[in-house]
Amino acid sequence: MQVILIFILGVVLVVVVLALIFLATGIAGAPYVPSQKAQLHETFTRLYPLKSSDLLVDLGSGDGIVLACAAERGARAIGVELNPIMALLSRVRLRRNKKISIKCGNMYYYRLPAETTVVYAYANHFVIQKLYSHVQAEATHLGHRLYLISNAFDCRAVKPQKRSETHYLYRIEPARPKKK
Ligand SMILES: C[S@@+](CC[C@H](N)C(=O)[O-])C[C@H]1O[C@@H](n2cnc3c(N)ncnc32)[C@H](O)[C@@H]1O
Repeated sequence: MQVILIFILGVVLVVVVLALIFLATGIAGAPYVPSQKAQLHETFTRLYPLKSSDLLVDLGSGDGIVLACAAERGARAIGVELNPIMALLSRVRLRRNKKISIKCGNMYYYRLPAETTVVYAYANHFVIQKLYSHVQAEATHLGHRLYLISNAFDCRAVKPQKRSETHYLYRIEPARPKKK
């Protein structure tokens, strides 16, 4: 009887911890909702034709579906995921793909590699606005243009360069140094 009780308590504890991890990462950025493969195909064909020379960074990479779609087109792809469970599951699922790497960490503090050409995010208006500022700062730091693709939510303060039914594309230039 005692063993069964301990087992049930253990299961409840695991479920509560998992729920708290998903809740916390949802509050920190956006809850886990995957992008749709057909829409990604359309996005990487028409909105931003992804090339093998691209390095795509998915900020909040979830199960890695965006990374897998980018790699299918020959591009290199890096995922940044705060939820350690999602980071682990996606690493295991995509471990054989040498074009993909996944970091477990907070996207707001992630420094983009110098070769980054395009950043992808699926969050909400508030988070996309913050990520736009982050990508703008990174473009300035790296000294070259970056593209930001946002699924479903636009940066309300900035006009997209292009849009499709589901995605917004922003071209972000490095800020010019202020004249003294
Ligand atoms: C809407 S899902 C998008 C997943 C994937 N990019 C896609 O389009 O299929 C958002 C993901 O961002 C992750 N996330 C939320 N806040 C984050 C943060 N501060 N840093 C990194 N990842 C975060 C969530 O855990 C979730 O997996």
